[in-house]
Amino acid sequence: MHILVCGGAGYIGSHMVKMLVGEGYEVTTFDNLSTGHAWAVHGGRLVVGDLLDEAGLRQLFAAQSFDAVMHFSAKSLVGESVRQPAQYYRNNVVGTLNLLDAMRAAGVKRFVFSSSAATFGNPVADRIDESHPQQPINPYGETKLMVEHVLRDYAVAYGLHSVSLRYFNAAGADPDAALGEEHDPETHLIPNVLKAVLDPGRGLKIFGSDYPTPDGTCVRDYIHVHDLCRAHLQALHFMDREPGAHGFNLGNGRGFSILEIIRAAEQVTGTSIPFEWQPRRAGDPPVLVADATLARTALAWQPAFGNIQQILETAWAWHRKPAAGR
Ligand code: UFG
Repeated sequence: MHILVCGGAGYIGSHMVKMLVGEGYEVTTFDNLSTGHAWAVHGGRLVVGDLLDEAGLRQLFAAQSFDAVMHFSAKSLVGESVRQPAQYYRNNVVGTLNLLDAMRAAGVKRFVFSSSAATFGNPVADRIDESHPQQPINPYGETKLMVEHVLRDYAVAYGLHSVSLRYFNAAGADPDAALGEEHDPETHLIPNVLKAVLDPGRGLKIFGSDYPTPDGTCVRDYIHVHDLCRAHLQALHFMDREPGAHGFNLGNGRGFSILEIIRAAEQVTGTSIPFEWQPRRAGDPPVLVADATLARTALAWQPAFGNIQQILETAWAWHRKPAAGR
């Protein structure tokens, strides 16, 4: 089975490529390397190209046949999306439409889409399941929700089967420490905490101390990147049984505050981690925790990294590894 992985050089996509290759799939990565890295593509073949280049996409689909597409390519920073919405709508929505249309022309019928907890906006329940209203509060979340709607309509009109996987906070690294999170600039909490250990001069900022949470800092549901990738594999099988467009929330169902993450990282690294308080960051909801019961039952998905220490240990093993040769 030949899988096209768009965004396979990025953080989550590269873990997916490694897992697919390990499971015996034939894999082609398509990536513009704007934020991803060629060194992160462990196996299969890499085609450097952009989803906004329709002719390039036609060539890609003409040159080989794919059984399914997994789509990880996106601009994904909430704050940036507020400042530069045009880039987000063009890249995430127009780029995805180009991809879906190339799939239609080539007769490829199975699609796994990286959606996001950001499609829900401000939570109206302690845990967010699939029945929670989807009312994004930033352009990034809007772009992901728009694609979910496109997929619903494409299933009806064109028989394109899809699963949208709404990640909560992706975290951790490949258990072999061969891959990990590598953004520039890094905006995510866990890599910033670990980088502050490795380079104390860099410092660590906490955005907001006055949220309506037990310790005043934002609470998130951190889900291991490997568990996210497993859900993609399960989604491929699910589409064979259940045609149409489907959406599932992926998280561990347990929230950790920023201070709890720092304390857990102190235990994992054996180092005290100083930080400074900063004002709230625009677009951050106070609490985001998944109810992933539906994914567990319908996809037969069981996260292997249910514990935050394990997640941090894999991230720490990656970050402390010498960067040479990445
Ligand atoms: N934070 C800090 N200091 C940092 C980095 C982050 O205090 O150096 C805080 C943030 O303000 C937030 C929490 O830590 O309160 C988590 O922030 P991340 O940037 O790690 O993650 P987000 O929850 O903002 O974003 C993630 C994904 C997005 C997705 C979003 C869904 O990265 O792609 O969840 O809301 F859209």
